Amino acid sequence: MSCLDVGCGGGAVTLDLARLVGPNGRVVGLDFDPVKLEHARQDALEKHVDNAFFVEADVTELEDVNLYDLIYCRFLLSHVKDPVAMLAKLFRALKAKGVLVIEDVDFRGHFSYPKNAAFDRYVDLFQQLAKKNDTNPNIGRKLHAMMVDAGLVNLEITLADLVFDKGDGKTTAKVTLDAIAPALLKAGLVEKAELATIGEELDKFTKSKRTLVSMPRIFQVWGTKVK
Ligand SMILES: C[S@@+](CC[C@H](N)C(=O)[O-])C[C@H]1O[C@@H](n2cnc3c(N)ncnc32)[C@H](O)[C@@H]1O
Repeated sequence: MSCLDVGCGGGAVTLDLARLVGPNGRVVGLDFDPVKLEHARQDALEKHVDNAFFVEADVTELEDVNLYDLIYCRFLLSHVKDPVAMLAKLFRALKAKGVLVIEDVDFRGHFSYPKNAAFDRYVDLFQQLAKKNDTNPNIGRKLHAMMVDAGLVNLEITLADLVFDKGDGKTTAKVTLDAIAPALLKAGLVEKAELATIGEELDKFTKSKRTLVSMPRIFQVWGTKVK
């Protein structure tokens, strides 16, 4: 079985797929970030996974035709300007009877308990930045219709609403705020002083034992190419 993990990042799912397809299958993890790919290669070496291969490339330039039995795409389409064109490329790269699996976010399903001003401001800023970059952080609910339009059949859909009281899942919002801070400042969406306050407040909120922080709601859709 031949699989492709597009926008594979650090390759966590690529390695899971490689284990699932076994020694007779192979998985290609494709990303345009060489640093993430190096981590992925290192991880594969350490975990003795030898049927995963990592390739540096831009998915918008993918020219593969009828090559893969399964293509997996997580948290990529919400980051690109033309997800419909990318979907068409993924469809073309699938073999007949191949399956395309897409997971992506909807920031409108991103919440905290109790309600917190710093968290809400972070969610708002993330969406404003995406709008400025011409990308869609609420693409999740559109995926099903987009996949129908792309020609996939036998579609299935599930929804993952993950919420955390501790651990990495809970700190994801603060980690993401830190990661997008330079872009927020550059885009003029927030002043440095306010950003520092949001960061401190969000950190304090995240560390409290009696608060909850969700992930953005995740739509999971998969479908088959007939021919
Ligand atoms: C949010 S991360 C998701 C990583 C991984 N799929 C996961 O779910 O853990 C998005 C990844 O897509 C990659 N990416 C974004 N646009 C890309 C493009 N046009 N071509 C290749 N990789 C791209 C980024 O470098 C990043 O590693």
